Amino acid sequence: MSSMLPKVVVTRRLPGISGARLAGKVTVAAPPPDAPMPPEELLRLAPGTSGILCTLADRIDRPLMDAAGPSLKVVSNYAVGVNNVDVAEATRRGIRVCNTPDVLTQATADLGFALMLAAARKFSEAETALRAGEFTGWDPWGFLGVPVYGGTLGIVGLGKIGAAVAVRAKGFGMRILYHNRRPLPADRERILSVEYRGLDELLAESDFVILCVPLTPETRGLIGRERLARMKRTAVLVNIARGEVVDEGALADALAERGIFAAGLDVYEKEPVVHPGLLAAPSAVLLPHVGSATAETRERMGRLAAENLLAVLSGTEPFSPVN
Ligand code: DGY
Repeated sequence: MSSMLPKVVVTRRLPGISGARLAGKVTVAAPPPDAPMPPEELLRLAPGTSGILCTLADRIDRPLMDAAGPSLKVVSNYAVGVNNVDVAEATRRGIRVCNTPDVLTQATADLGFALMLAAARKFSEAETALRAGEFTGWDPWGFLGVPVYGGTLGIVGLGKIGAAVAVRAKGFGMRILYHNRRPLPADRERILSVEYRGLDELLAESDFVILCVPLTPETRGLIGRERLARMKRTAVLVNIARGEVVDEGALADALAERGIFAAGLDVYEKEPVVHPGLLAAPSAVLLPHVGSATAETRERMGRLAAENLLAVLSGTEPFSPVN
């Protein structure tokens, strides 16, 4: 009986994706591992598979689609970002690609805002000193940060997560600038209390710059040496998008030379490797890609990823298609 069910590969054990959710609807090719699935293993399991439920650590590219063959109908990514999937190639082959938007918007915006506060107020540096036994009493000169309340925030990529960051910034009395490929409709700008700027103007005017763009050929390397040089020396850069949006070497240099005040990073160019210059920078607050990491959010991401996969395989429209 189970051999009649479509075969799927689930590349990792994930919150919200229990065997019970998939039971009776698909056959899972192999027990999902507790660590990222090695690419060779994914290639080995791919032939004859109808669906792949994967994470941002898996590359879903042309060779993998070739290995899967024409049976492959859906790639359901357990992430909102789909830069790990060759969407154009999938579309060409009629393979549906789905992601997990909305369910992680608030958690990711919370994290972005927290990183902004933490970097502005030197949380990492201060806590590291305390843990090292260096808290010898209140110090009028210690760990002087920059004020967040009332500052100017520049949001690069005002999509769902960027808008959720703007809502938080309003509560902090901030002036909010944003940059998108195209300005939003005027009523949307009014509701969010945001003003459009060209990227270079936004960088020059903002006290805080937060990156919320998807990784695409246009946004890869968007913030390099020249753009960092446009920022105020007192400014803070926050990246909750993808590491490849920023030139990490240039950022490490900017922090070392005090070209900007601080950075708050959740994502890295070559995860899980972090640039040594960033690890060495006391003014960088560094988190291990935890934007969506609340138990509730991860559970909801899993449910949505599973429902998307099952919808396509049962011939209905998925809840959050990318193509
Ligand atoms: C995403 O969804 O793209 C995040 O980076 C992981 O939750």
